[in-house]
Parts: sequence; structure tokens; C-alpha cells
Amino acid sequence: MSQTILIETNEDLKKIFSLNLNTFVGTDVILRSSAEDTMALLKILPQISLIITRAKIKDDETAVKIHQYLKNEGLETTMIVLGECPQLANQVLCLQEPVSWEILIRQAAQALGVSLQDISHRVKPDYLPVGLHFFRDIQKTPCDVYIRIKKGPHEYQFVKRIHSKDVFDLEAIQKYEEQGLKEFFVSKDYIQYFTTFVTNALVQKLERTDLTLEERILATSHGHEIVRDSINNIGMDSSIVDLADASINSMMKSVKDSPQIAGLLKFLFSNKITYAYQHSHLLALMCHYVLSKQSWYRGEHLQVLSFVSFFSDVTLKSHQQMQIGSMRDLWEANLTDEERAQVISHAKDAVAILEANPHADDYIKTVLLQSHGKLDGMGIEDNPGEDLHPLSKVFIISDNFVKILLNPSMPSTKKDILPLLYSRFTNPSYQKIIKALEQKFE
Ligand SMILES: [Fe+2]
Repeated sequence: MSQTILIETNEDLKKIFSLNLNTFVGTDVILRSSAEDTMALLKILPQISLIITRAKIKDDETAVKIHQYLKNEGLETTMIVLGECPQLANQVLCLQEPVSWEILIRQAAQALGVSLQDISHRVKPDYLPVGLHFFRDIQKTPCDVYIRIKKGPHEYQFVKRIHSKDVFDLEAIQKYEEQGLKEFFVSKDYIQYFTTFVTNALVQKLERTDLTLEERILATSHGHEIVRDSINNIGMDSSIVDLADASINSMMKSVKDSPQIAGLLKFLFSNKITYAYQHSHLLALMCHYVLSKQSWYRGEHLQVLSFVSFFSDVTLKSHQQMQIGSMRDLWEANLTDEERAQVISHAKDAVAILEANPHADDYIKTVLLQSHGKLDGMGIEDNPGEDLHPLSKVFIISDNFVKILLNPSMPSTKKDILPLLYSRFTNPSYQKIIKALEQKFE
């Protein structure tokens, strides 16, 4: 789904505009309140397709500032300005006040290349974006694949780039990546068919027994990326459940015969693997380290913790949100109220998503719900208590270890990380878990 930034100060209009943009244009609306927080978001998400902004917020030349930023960064994001803006009148579309929502969504639909024949029906875009990562493990596609080209200042055209019979390799996809392409497009009628084709191909690859450890980790990271992407855009269907299962099994396999951590880190950093997967993989590995030192350890415990590691941050949108490990981090991070709220409820939200996965049993859901030390899955407990499930405790210590390890501004050796954990998690069973981790490294 395309993403649109909306900056509107009037609360009623904000609701009307975002609801209608989402319903009729099929775009994901991200609310922003100023030029500054819009630019900050564009730094992380330059692929935003459309920006709709008030010309001015109080005395601030919001639209002019954003326009200048796009120009400086060479971004081609389309803008629609609400209200008069003489400085931009010849360059972007400025809608006169009062702006009606019908006119706004018509213009937004045109800018996003969506046909809006009948406003009484929910209109889906004719072509849906598919990230390049969907193409890394396939050599052909079951349908034609398009790229989007800017036709006019507010219009796009879709041009066929890969025919359904074409054969291609990873190198060809990497070339597109190097040229700055972020996504291809697939006709909406084929999107389900396409996704199922890709997930089947990847499941088959993950189930192969002849993959090297590196090939396995790479393919698993692709599985993770596709599962996250699909859950956040279209939800979890049976092909995504299958891909998640195959990826979790593959992750467990590679965790069990993992090389030395230094070598693993080097591999994870040098292969364009997402932060989300680096975190999940290392987290499952630390859980495995701790579990292997427990007298009560049974194989299914690793299964539960790998499942939770795989899904724990699935609803979080940014690297910055995933790095947060304490309430202090949360308040100090440069996040909007909405992004903060997503962090606070992410454990609970992940459990809700797993309702659609028949393999997520109550055991898994309990540990996931408690993954930040709260029994109700809301917020982060800085010094969690003894009332949590034993596996939740193992998860929490492992998660915090990995968050520190992956944070460039925090210590990166076990010798420096472990004292931080000892001083934060003061309850006896947590101290024992940290000890188990320490022994594993000795
Ligand atoms: Fe989390």
C-alpha cells in the first residue's frame, strides 16, 4: 500500500481527510504536525508517495520548507498544498480554501495512479507496490511486473518491466536496487497469486537440507522481511503462516549450529540484512545459549522462544522503534506520539496478529505478551518481577543483551554489557539467567 503524509491542523478535517484517503484511495495515511517532523520521517522513509500539507502552520512556511527539502534531497514525492501558497503556485498543486474532501481524494488518487471511477465503491489502486526483497529468491514471476514512471507533475504511468515468462537472477534485481529502485508493481488482480508464488518458492528453499549456513541465514532473513511486510500490508493468510513456520524452523536450525558470535555478527552486518532480522536471529541465539544451561531445558522451549523472537516486533515500523528497550529510551527517542504509542502496545498487538496463526499456542502468546516485562503487554517494565513465566524472563534478558549489542552508541562486548544487565534486572531469577549467559561466553 502507498503511504501518504498528511499535515492538517483542524482536527475534524484531519479525521475526514485521512479516513477518505484510506477508504477511497487505498493509501496509508501518516499524520504529521510540522515541516520538521515530516522531514525527519522522510529521512527514514524516503519512499513516501504523496505529501498533503497545509500551506502554513501558524507563521511557519510549512509547504515551502518541505518542498525545498524534497528538492535538496532529489526526491520526486508529489505534494498537494491545502490553501494558497504563492511561492509554490507554479510548481505544485495548491487547492483553494475551503478544500472539499471529494476534490482532495480525486487529486490524491490521480497523483498515486489510482483510478477513482466510482466514489461509492472502495477503490483499490490498479497496481500495488511490491518491495524488491520479494524478488531475491525467485528466477521468474507468475505474472507481469511493472515499474512506476512519473508522467506529469501529479500523474504516474506503469510500464511493464518483467514479463511473466522472463528468467532473471539475483544480480539483475541487485542492479535495479543499485539504481535506487525501491519497489516494482503488480496488477492488483494478481497480487495474491504473486505473493503465494514467492512464498512457496521461499518455503521450498528454506526446507532444503543442502543450504550452507550463510545461504540459510540469508534466505531466512528474506522470509522474515516478507512475513513482516505482508502482515503490515495485507494481513496473515495461509501462505504467510507457512512461510513464517518454514522461516522459524530454518532460524532454529541455524541457531543450533551457529558459528562464533563475532563471525556471525560480521556476516549479519555485511549482507544488507535488516535490523529487524539481525535482532530476531541474535535474540533466538541468546535464548538458545541461556536455555542450554538450564537443567529443565527441553527442545520445545527453543521452539517457543524462536517463535516469539521472530514475531516480537512485527508491528513496529522503524529501526528506531525496535531499538527501544526501556521506558527511558522511549521518552528520549525522537518519536511522534503515534510512534510512541505503537512501541507501548507492540507486545499486545503482536499477540493479536498471531490470532490468525493456528500454530501460535497459548504458551507462545503468553511469552510474547510478557516480552517487555508487563503481564498485559502494554509498556516496558524496567525491573520486571518474579511473577512472569520463566521463558519470558529468558526472553527479556536475551532481548536486552541483543539491543545493547546492536546499538552503536552502547557497549559492544559481553564484558561491558553483562554488568548493565546485572544492575538493571535485580530479581534473583533474572540474575541467574544473566549468570547462565555469562557462563556460556566463558
Ligand atoms: Fe519488542
